Amino acid sequence: MGNPAVKPLIDLRSDTVTQPTEGMRAAIAAAVVGDEQKREDPTVTALQQRVAALLGHESALFVPTATMANQIALKLHGRPGDVLLAEETSHVIVYEYGGAAAHAGLITRGLPGFAGRIAPEQVRAASAPSTKVADQRATVLALENTHNNAGGRVWPLEELAAVLATAREHGLAVHLDGARLLNAAVAQELPPAEIGSRFDTVTLCLSKGLGCPLGALLAGSQELIERAWREKHLFGGAMRQAGIVAAAGVYALEHNVDRLAEDHARARAFAEGLVAAGVPVDLERVETNFVQLDVGSLGMSVPDALAALKAQGVGLSATIHAHLIRAVFHLHVGDEDVERAVEGAAAALVGATASARRA
Ligand SMILES: Cc1ncc(COP(=O)(O)O)c(C=O)c1O
Repeated sequence: MGNPAVKPLIDLRSDTVTQPTEGMRAAIAAAVVGDEQKREDPTVTALQQRVAALLGHESALFVPTATMANQIALKLHGRPGDVLLAEETSHVIVYEYGGAAAHAGLITRGLPGFAGRIAPEQVRAASAPSTKVADQRATVLALENTHNNAGGRVWPLEELAAVLATAREHGLAVHLDGARLLNAAVAQELPPAEIGSRFDTVTLCLSKGLGCPLGALLAGSQELIERAWREKHLFGGAMRQAGIVAAAGVYALEHNVDRLAEDHARARAFAEGLVAAGVPVDLERVETNFVQLDVGSLGMSVPDALAALKAQGVGLSATIHAHLIRAVFHLHVGDEDVERAVEGAAAALVGATASARRA
């Protein structure tokens, strides 16, 4: 018997916490499978073809994680000693264990960003050939959309086009870490290919807002994806009856894309509820399914804020930023959860600071 005093947690730590739904589990159970490594799994093939078309590319490759998709892409675009340019808080720099150096031998140069975005002038300046080491130059630019550490921020299409044009001028290959590309596309009401086709390669993750247990894809030209098959094998990522997992991806693309708009609307409702309750949130920054809260401005540390929230039955998580915590909305969060989460957060954060001030 559970303790009735303990409220069930509304888990807003990440959009990776979802469990496969009944419909998804049924699709998994019914999957027709084969040997993926031999390219004989019809469900994997169907998913790859579907994602290639969705992202505006000739071909796509199914891999276990978005990290692997990113790392394969970097290997395709650079040789050891080449320079990778990316916004300094992007996933490829912060969370991939230095894979760009370890796997591709790339030298990573992080550029300071605004809302996860960088400007054409930064790319231009960073692409200038080195005067000291003749053949050490930037060959690849990796962008992230939506941008995780910036709080699910979206690249406006014109800005994206300008940066990509500069990158092309300087002969850089361009990779998109589009783990949450579909969130961006839904938020901007654009076909995903409108964003994805501008890049040489695109990562799409299935295990975030799409609600799959695992899986990601790397999309690109026929030629690049042929090379990617080999790199995937080298990473130990060539699988067997992977259609069991790919079936979840096919299901998600049919059922869980348009509904991302609901996650975005709930994130906004949560943010607005917090503001109304006196918790500082910059509403301008809430563009998709993330809400970042500045607990430093409430005089709280991140661990204290997270503990107070947890005690109120609301799970949030730390970010890379010293004073910011985040709530991430996903398919297990309903409207009633938003209301409860606002109440819990207000009690934990405003209530806590108020009582701390009184003490
Ligand atoms: C922007 C971005 N790219 C890549 C990844 C890596 O995904 P995975 O955990 O599937 O490797 C994440 C995961 O959080 C992410 O947020």
